[in-house]
Amino acid sequence: MSREHAPLVPQAVPADLQAALAGARPRLGSFGQDLRFFTSVGSTNDVADRLALDGAAEGTTVVADTQTAGRGRLGRTWHSPPGAGLYASVVLRPGSTPSPALWTLVAGVGLADALRRVSGLNVLVKWPNDLVIGRKKVCGILAEGSASQGSIRHVVLGFGVNLRPAAYPADLADRATSLEGELGRPVDRGIVLAGSLEALADRIEEARASGIGAILDRWRALAPSSIGSQVEWRSPDGIRRGTTAGIDGDGALLVTAGGAVERIIGGEVRWM
Ligand code: BTN
Repeated sequence: MSREHAPLVPQAVPADLQAALAGARPRLGSFGQDLRFFTSVGSTNDVADRLALDGAAEGTTVVADTQTAGRGRLGRTWHSPPGAGLYASVVLRPGSTPSPALWTLVAGVGLADALRRVSGLNVLVKWPNDLVIGRKKVCGILAEGSASQGSIRHVVLGFGVNLRPAAYPADLADRATSLEGELGRPVDRGIVLAGSLEALADRIEEARASGIGAILDRWRALAPSSIGSQVEWRSPDGIRRGTTAGIDGDGALLVTAGGAVERIIGGEVRWM
């Protein structure tokens, strides 16, 4: 996956991030202990992937002020203007549990609860991994695995949080929101980063120790649109329509359509 070939020379970690992480340190486990900060990178996921290939430990975290080639799911661009968002990626060493396909759901629960805690806003999850306020997206998550001889070597878990209003392209402008835009007051990105890393460390530890049953229950509680919503998706037979009926134990979206239950494991689902 790594597209990052330039020498990786991080800059000094800004004081706002240092202060917030120092306060949270005892609760972060390995997350953010090794933090690499860049004013500008292509994609923090690529930098973290490169570090992981070079042997970086689990929890190694890459943060950038701006990304020139930030990417989202389904090959989309993740607009990453300077100062408008938190762009971060964490190296995970998966071990046995949970399966890589479930990492984004685990991360979605952790990050949704983190953003709820730091902002007090009603941040919800939309399958598979959009964090939304109302119908507008405030955070996206991109988990990318690197495999060798059939087994996962590492996973890079990237997340982008919209901190303040930005000049998004017209097609995104009415589908995106930001924490500051919703709150009408400044938000400390260090607190958002520390809260996010703490929640991720916590949920990933829980998944390893106790499995993901309780995390999936929390996901369901945070994702009311995963039951009873009209959706449209592209199948090999063309555009299909149906009604969401929850997720299964593997994180697939269940949709009732034409009297049958379909399992959707990826691709684009449009909420009507
Ligand atoms: C999505 O909703 O489509 C996922 C967006 C993920 C964006 C983050 S920003 C930090 C990390 N680096 C990237 O290039 N992408 C992720």
